Amino acid sequence: MSVVAMFGAQWGDEGKGKIADALGENLDAMARFNGGNNAGHTIVVGGDKFALHLIPSGILRPEVACYICRGVVIDPRVLLEEISKLQSRGVDASRLMLDPHCHLIMPYHLTLDNAQEFLMGDGKIGTTGRGIGPCYADKAYRIGIRAIDLTDTDSLASKIDMALKRHGGLLSEMGHDYTSDDIVKSLREVLEDIIALMGDTAGSVRRHITAGDNVLLEGAQGFILDIDHGSYPFVTSSNCHPAGAAAGIGIAARDIGGSLGIVKAYQTRVGAGPMPTELTDEVGDKIRERGREFGTTTGRPRRCGWLDLPLLKMTIANTGMDSIALTKLDVLDGLDTVQVCVDYEVDGKVLNGKIPQSYQIDKAKPIYEELPGWGEGNGELSGGQNEYIGFIEETLGVPVVIVSIGPERKQTIIRASVFD
Ligand code: GDP
Ligand code: IMO
Ligand code: MG
Repeated sequence: MSVVAMFGAQWGDEGKGKIADALGENLDAMARFNGGNNAGHTIVVGGDKFALHLIPSGILRPEVACYICRGVVIDPRVLLEEISKLQSRGVDASRLMLDPHCHLIMPYHLTLDNAQEFLMGDGKIGTTGRGIGPCYADKAYRIGIRAIDLTDTDSLASKIDMALKRHGGLLSEMGHDYTSDDIVKSLREVLEDIIALMGDTAGSVRRHITAGDNVLLEGAQGFILDIDHGSYPFVTSSNCHPAGAAAGIGIAARDIGGSLGIVKAYQTRVGAGPMPTELTDEVGDKIRERGREFGTTTGRPRRCGWLDLPLLKMTIANTGMDSIALTKLDVLDGLDTVQVCVDYEVDGKVLNGKIPQSYQIDKAKPIYEELPGWGEGNGELSGGQNEYIGFIEETLGVPVVIVSIGPERKQTIIRASVFD
C-alpha cells in the first residue's frame, strides 16, 4: 500500500500531526485535502515544538514534498506567516506547493463567522472564529475568491463586490463597511508571495502515485466533525471523511490504498455539541492536565471524557477505516481503573451493538465497561496498556498498527507498517 489517507476518527485533535510526522521517515509526499487554519497540529521533535495550521505535517522532513490541495481553504496571511515562522527556525518550506483552486478566506469571512455565532446565541457552534464556515459557504454559493483570482486584480475586485453585495446586510449590521478597493489593496501586499507558491498539486500528486511513491493524504479535523456524517450542526464545514481526499486533491478514489484513523485513547472535544462520555469531574480535569488538552489554535480547554467505542463503530462503518493509530495512551497511565463506553442507550433502548446514527449522539447515554488501570509507563507497553489495546481491537475489529505514548516523534511504537 503506497497511498494512505490519514484522518481523525473522533472530534479532532487526536494527534494527527504527531503521527503524520512520525510516518514522515518513509514518505515521499504529503497532501493536505480539507479544512483550513481551524486545524492546529502540534509536533515535537527533540524538545522543539512546532504548531502547524495549514502546512502539511511532512514539512519537518526535508525529503517529503508537501502539497496544499484544492479542498483546503486558505487565509493568505496566515499561510505566509506560518511559512516565515518555519523558515526562521531553519525549516526549508520551499517544497510547499499551493493549489490555485483553493478558496481564500477574506476579512469579511471572519466577521461573518463571528456574526453568525452571535446570532445563534446559546446555540452557537463554538467555531474557531477563523472564517472557515463562511468561506466554504461562499464556495457553495459560487461567489468565493480563489487563489488563482489573485492573478487578475481587476476581476478580483468585481468578485469581491459580488460577495460584499450578498453579505452586505449582515456586515453593515455588525458595523463593518468593507470595500473591494480596500480588500484588494491589502491583498496586493501578499499576492506575489501566494502566486509564487502556486502549482499543479493534483498533477504532482498523481505523478507521485504513478511512480509508486509513498504518499500520505493528510486530513484535518475528525470524522465526527464531518459536515455530512458528524454531530450536525456542531461540525465543521468540510468533509473529514478519508474518501474526501480523492475529491479534495484530484486523484482517483481507487488510488487510495487504505485509510489510517487516528484515535485518541480517550475522547476530547472543543466547542459546543453533544459528547456522551464527557467527564465534568476531577477525572476529566486530571486527563485535561495530563494530556495538556488545550487547543493548539484557540487555546480553549478541551472537554475530556472516556473512550467512546459506539462513535468509533460509526466512524468505521461509514469510512471503512482499515487501521488505527492509537495516541496519548500514556495520558491514562496511573489510573486505578479505566472506563470504556461500549454501547449507548437511546430513548430508553440499548443499541446492543447497533451502529448509532449521528443524530442519536445527543440523546445517547453511555454504557461503560470497566478495565483495570496500569502504572506509570517506562517507554514500553505495559500489560495493562496491551490489554486496553486488545480490548479496542477486539471490539472494533480493526488493528491498532501504531501506538503513541508521548508527544515526541520517537515516542511512537510501530506494530505493523502502514506502507508496503
Ligand atoms: P491534531 O490536531 O490531531 O494534530 O492534534 P493536536 O496537535 O491538536 O493535539 C494533540 C496534542 O497531543 C499535541 O499537543 C501533541 O503534541 C500531543 N500528543 C500527540 N501524541 C501524544 C501522545 O501519545 N502522548 C501525549 N502525552 N501527547 C501527545
Ligand atoms: P484539528 O485538525 C478540533 C471544531 C471547532 C468547532 C467546530 C466548527 O486540529 O483536529 P470551525 O471553525 O471549523 O467552523 O468550527 O469544529 N474544530 C476542531 N476541533 N480540532 C480541529 O482541527 C478542529 N477544527 C474545527 O472547535 O466545534
Ligand atoms: Mg488539533
